[in-house]
Amino acid sequence: MHLAAVSAPGRLAGPRPAISIRLPRREDGARVWELVAESGGLDANSLYCNLLQCSHFAETCAIAEAGGDIIGWVSGYIPPGAPDTYFVWQVCTAESARGQGLARRLIASVLARPCCAGVTRLQSTITAANTASWALFGGVAAALGAPMTHAPHFTREAHFAGRHDTEHLVSIGPFARRAA
Ligand SMILES: CC(C)(COP(=O)(O)OP(=O)(O)OC[C@H]1O[C@@H](n2cnc3c(N)ncnc32)[C@H](O)[C@@H]1OP(=O)(O)O)[C@@H](O)C(=O)NCCC(=O)NCCS
Repeated sequence: MHLAAVSAPGRLAGPRPAISIRLPRREDGARVWELVAESGGLDANSLYCNLLQCSHFAETCAIAEAGGDIIGWVSGYIPPGAPDTYFVWQVCTAESARGQGLARRLIASVLARPCCAGVTRLQSTITAANTASWALFGGVAAALGAPMTHAPHFTREAHFAGRHDTEHLVSIGPFARRAA
């Protein structure tokens, strides 16, 4: 066998299926729950929570799919008191799909929807140790051409009763709508 074929399993397996991004539906809830559990580093929510995200909050959530598999997920909402803000609750991609800009595409796809027509800020919370997440949101801020600030928000002692690392509130914006 030719050495190049041995060292290039991607080529042996053939071309990767195209990735599409779409709105979630109720039937996706169970698979989304699994993806979140498999992703490592994310708090598991109840399956019921994922079902609500896939139905009531579908417009501000997105799924990445390839070859019929769900390989990426972003959940979020527009907080009732802040109609100019998209709050990202969770974002994750399957390990096999990482490092290809997929998480950024998922967020961008929601920001481009009509429901986000009035959105000029993006927020999320991140623990200090989540390097990939800091890199992701830093990249989002750069792509939007907007400043990014952060500050402790839900702290280990005051809010998590010592059970969880402090979550830092990351705020990106304001950004121009045309950037989104
Ligand atoms: C965080 C996560 C969603 C990133 O997904 P991804 O599809 O690999 O991210 P992208 O390819 O869109 O990368 C976006 C940017 O982050 C950088 N990045 C991604 N993972 C990184 C890592 N592990 N270390 C350093 N930088 C990283 C990319 O290089 C890219 O930078 P750029 O904007 O300068 O090009 C993914 O690692 C994951 O699912 N992690 C587990 C769940 C999690 O922690 N989610 C975030 C908290 S809600």
